[in-house]
Amino acid sequence: MSILLTGGAGYIGSHTAAVLADAGQTVVLYDSLRNSSAEAIRRLHAITRRPPVFVEGDIRHTGRLARVLQEHGVEAVIHMAGLKTVAESISEPIDYYHTNVQGTLSLLDAMDSLSIHRLVFSSSATVYGEPAYLPIDEEHPLRATNPYGRTKLHIEDMLLDLARSNPRWSIACLRYFNPAGAHESGLIGESPRGVPTNLMPHIAEVAAGSLSRLTVFGGDYDTPDGTGIRDFIHVMDLAEGHLAALDFLSANTGWHAFNLGTGRGYSVLEMIAAFTAASGRPIPYRFQPRRPGDVAVCYADPGKAERLLGWKAWRSLEAMCASTWRWRSGGHAEDASGVRAWA
Ligand code: NAD
Ligand code: WQD
Repeated sequence: MSILLTGGAGYIGSHTAAVLADAGQTVVLYDSLRNSSAEAIRRLHAITRRPPVFVEGDIRHTGRLARVLQEHGVEAVIHMAGLKTVAESISEPIDYYHTNVQGTLSLLDAMDSLSIHRLVFSSSATVYGEPAYLPIDEEHPLRATNPYGRTKLHIEDMLLDLARSNPRWSIACLRYFNPAGAHESGLIGESPRGVPTNLMPHIAEVAAGSLSRLTVFGGDYDTPDGTGIRDFIHVMDLAEGHLAALDFLSANTGWHAFNLGTGRGYSVLEMIAAFTAASGRPIPYRFQPRRPGDVAVCYADPGKAERLLGWKAWRSLEAMCASTWRWRSGGHAEDASGVRAWA
């Protein structure tokens, strides 16, 4: 099957491309390289030993997308392209609505014009807002708390309307919890531009010595060690979830939401300890007040994905830390993101 993967040069996209190629699927990567680099494509080549099919382009260019879909005989789309930083979405909401919502509409137009109706969408646990109960299942109320989250909710709603309008659509919204880790080879991984705002890449930079210390946001949560707890999921497990979702969609029409998480949480201090063990490096940290908008605890009920997709995350926290460190300490992360301006 020929699959278009938008955002395919990005963090989750490049790992998903590796998994799809390994499963013998034909993948076309479509990415503007706004938050990634062509180096990721070269690394994928080294991993899969096949030159990836890559098209540099913006998802908002509907005509170009349609030509790519047609030329490559695409039958299904995995849509990951978009912007993902909560703080940036608050300061640049137009950019976020343009890229995420308008970009998705553009993709749907292109797909519909060619009668391609199979879609896996990268949604996020952010659509649940502050947890009303734990673990969070797919029936949990939806209430985004920032513009980024609202773009994901708008897109999910659009996709639901589409599925209701035409029974030929098969759509899976995959709600990712906290992706972490890297490909086992250490050749691809997460390479954020600028100072990382997420926990795992920030810890990796401190271990590598390019940042002096980690700030732990809040030591007074109602958790065993007082720090926030999240459901960290290995990016390779997440990538395999897309393969399972594609399989599911080949036999099921309609709109479906699935949590992709592990079902267990780790605290910030547990993450620091695990990364210290994996890297053998000290990770100095200091406590600061809670980060606005953060919740104390968040983890998934991944049971629906296990029942309907036959998928379950199995990789350990140690594997997440070891692969991140292999990627960060191997010099590859530097090449992929260019000079680290904050070093
Ligand atoms: P990423 O930034 O590494 O990848 C996104 C890719 O989309 C980048 O390569 C970027 O260049 C590309 N892109 C951005 N705008 C584009 C446009 N207009 N046209 C074409 N390409 C464009 O991010 P990621 O972490 O790999 O996230 C992938 C998807 O998963 C996103 O939709 C994100 O919202 C979602 N997600 C990520 C996380 C996370 O913590 N990483 C959690 C939940 C959901
Ligand atoms: C995890 C924990 C922080 C950095 C975000 C988005 C979410 C999703 C995943 C896309 C929290 C603490 C963090 C630091 C810290 N993305 N922390 N020091 O906030 O759960 O989720 O990324 O969809 O939408 O909101 O992830 O990695 O930023 O934080 O103490 O320097 O680590 O307070 O408890 P979060 P995170």
